[in-house]
Amino acid sequence: MTRVLIATTNPDNLREIRDVLADTRVELISLSDLPPIAEPEETGQTFQDNARLKAFYYAGHAAPAAGPQVVTVAEDSGLIVDALGGEPGVRSARFLRPDATYAERFDEIYRRLAAQPDRPRTARFVCALTAARGNDLLFEATGTIEGQISDTPRGSGGFGYDPIFFYPPYGRTLAEATDVEKLRVAHRGHAFRKLGEWLSAQGT
Ligand code: IMP
Repeated sequence: MTRVLIATTNPDNLREIRDVLADTRVELISLSDLPPIAEPEETGQTFQDNARLKAFYYAGHAAPAAGPQVVTVAEDSGLIVDALGGEPGVRSARFLRPDATYAERFDEIYRRLAAQPDRPRTARFVCALTAARGNDLLFEATGTIEGQISDTPRGSGGFGYDPIFFYPPYGRTLAEATDVEKLRVAHRGHAFRKLGEWLSAQGT
């Protein structure tokens, strides 16, 4: 059975990825199953750049412990707000300050949006993933969910920017949706379902 290393250090992302791949016939491991590996710097300009950078980095560093045949999967994700020129974008996890609370980040986003009341509040979450083995790029995919920045933060589910992401088909923010409802329509679910289909097609 193929061994797949999900190379994320973000526990919220990992939880969603495990849920999506639960029915895929692979042995899933994460970085916490391996000796500690220092995190690479995310210097890419796009989500796909960063996903690729992390996949090759962890593929190289994890192979001694995880085995040369391990398929290493890394992802990069974040929130794009059109009226903010695409911010927080690839800097979503570090927006404002690396240790800022999400309440502080929401305040900053609302402050900047208030300065441009005529701009649409459209936004999207994007997830890019890359699967690699050694120096070989095996598979790439992206997933997106389109929505709007809500008038005010709402809901206590999900994580990160979910309370300010209003999803029109549900008439609620993603933090007001259940985990199952979110995974069905959101960026990470879309991208990792494509990975699951690809892994299944490999006859793993
Ligand atoms: P990464 O770990 O570098 O990919 O950073 C992802 C960051 O984007 C997270 O720390 C969140 O701030 C944000 N983000 C990504 N996906 C979601 C989501 O599904 N809900 C809310 N925030 C998200």
